[in-house]
Amino acid sequence: MRTRVNQALSSRFAKPLAFMFGLLPFVWLVTAAALDWLGANPAEALERSSGDWTLRMLCVVLAITPLRTVAGLPALAKFRRMAGLFVYFYAVLHLLAYSWFDMGFELADIAKDIVKRPFILVGFAAVVLLTPLALTSFNRAIKALGGKRWQLLHRLVYAIAVLAVVHFFWMRAGKHNFAEVAVYAVILGSLLGWRVVQAIKKRALQPSSMLRSQL
Ligand code: HEM
Repeated sequence: MRTRVNQALSSRFAKPLAFMFGLLPFVWLVTAAALDWLGANPAEALERSSGDWTLRMLCVVLAITPLRTVAGLPALAKFRRMAGLFVYFYAVLHLLAYSWFDMGFELADIAKDIVKRPFILVGFAAVVLLTPLALTSFNRAIKALGGKRWQLLHRLVYAIAVLAVVHFFWMRAGKHNFAEVAVYAVILGSLLGWRVVQAIKKRALQPSSMLRSQL
C-alpha cells in the first residue's frame, strides 16, 4: 500500500494535480465574487477566506515532513516547496484584500493601522517573515545560501506559525469566539511539538553515535 502511494506521488501527474488543488480555493473565491455568491459583505468574505486559506496552507506545509516520516512517504518531499509558495500566495492575497477593501490602497493609512492595531501588526510581521522564505525557495537561492544557512533561515516558519495563531486569536478575542482558533492552535502546536521531539531524540542519539565512532 505504502509503495503504491509513493508511486502515485512520484507520478508525473502528481505535481500538476497538487498545483490544481492548491489553486482551487482561489478559483472558487474569484468565481464566487464574480457570480455574487459571497453573501451580504463580499469584501469581508474575501478578506476572511484568504486569511483562512493562508492558515490552512501553513498547516499543510508543516504537516509534510511529519507525514513523510511517520507514514514512510518520502515522495511527499517534492510538494513542500509548492505548498510553501501557496502559503505566500494566499498571505499576499489576504494582505491585498485588506489593503484594498479596508484601506483603499492608501499606504499612509495602512502604515498607521499596522502600528495602531496589534493584531494587524502581528499578521503583517508574519507576511514580512514569509517573504525571504518565498524568495529563497528556488534551487539557485538554496545553492547560493548553502544548505545549513538555508535550513536556519527556513526555521522562521515556526515563528510564522506562532504569529499566525496569535493574529487569529487576537482578531477573534473581541468577539470571545475561540473555537476555530483552538483547532488551528492544536494542529499547529502538534506539528511543531513533533519537530521538537525529533530534535531532542536526534540530540540524545548524537553523543552515543560519536562514542561509537571513536571506539
Ligand atoms: C501569515 C499571515 C496571515 C495569516 C495566516 C492570517 C490569517 C487570518 C485569519 C485566519 C483571519 C480570520 C478569518 C476568519 O475570521 O475566518 C484573519 C483576519 C484578518 N486579517 Fe489576517 N492573516 C495574516 C496576515 C495578515 C496581514 C498582513 C494583514 C494586514 C496587514 C491581515 C489583516 C487581517 C484583517 C483586517 C482581518 C480581519 C478581517 C475581518 O474582520 O473581516 N492579516 N487573518
